[in-house]
Amino acid sequence: MLQTERLLLRPWCADDVALLASLSAIPRVTRYISDGRTWSALKTIAVSDAAAEHWHRHGFGWRVITQLTSGTDIGLLAVNLMGDGTPGVAPDEHEIGWWLAPEHWGHGYSTEAARAAATDAFATLGAPALTARIHPDNRASLAVAARLGMEFAFNTVAPPGVPVSVYRADRAPCVAAARDAERAQPPSE
Ligand SMILES: CC(C)(COP(=O)(O)OP(=O)(O)OC[C@H]1O[C@@H](n2cnc3c(N)ncnc32)[C@H](O)[C@@H]1OP(=O)(O)O)[C@@H](O)C(=O)NCCC(=O)NCCS
Repeated sequence: MLQTERLLLRPWCADDVALLASLSAIPRVTRYISDGRTWSALKTIAVSDAAAEHWHRHGFGWRVITQLTSGTDIGLLAVNLMGDGTPGVAPDEHEIGWWLAPEHWGHGYSTEAARAAATDAFATLGAPALTARIHPDNRASLAVAARLGMEFAFNTVAPPGVPVSVYRADRAPCVAAARDAERAQPPSE
């Protein structure tokens, strides 16, 4: 369980399939995910079960993002092993990803959740790096990666044949932010 100023991030379990079903049925949410189509019930159940299984097998994984004030589940924050299939990306890389219900976009929730999960991945899991695969047109998601201090690595094609830009971070967001602030300072004499 991770907690931030406004959010609780709890491990994904099989019961969270309802949250995934509601998110993956919204075209604005799935627009830049995989082939861009909304998900069938079968696919939703399979992906939710795999996310729960990932926790059992590896001791980390997807988390439900819950708003502290309302207790509402507003999205998910994924940290998982990449798996096969994306050229140039190793299956054992730690992938990070974020989805929010559209009514909660524009409040900084995904960045807040991702900062907490990324910090935990570096500090607790000992992940050497975090990798994000983002459709090049997904400006909102690219902005989250930038706010985390992730850097563009390369463009490739992920299953089922969709373009993705690969971003990586090799240190926790607070360290990345301090490094950027240092770069912005005028050089001292
Ligand atoms: C990707 C996604 C999670 C980004 O959501 P988002 O709300 O734009 O991102 P954040 O939660 O970080 O919020 C940032 C926005 O909140 C604003 N904001 C408002 N209050 C804020 C606060 N207190 N703190 C920080 N930012 C705040 C920021 O200015 C920014 O707005 P801007 O983009 O207009 O500049 C969302 O678009 C989404 O769920 N998309 C569908 C799923 C998807 O594509 N996932 C990514 C797959 S790679």
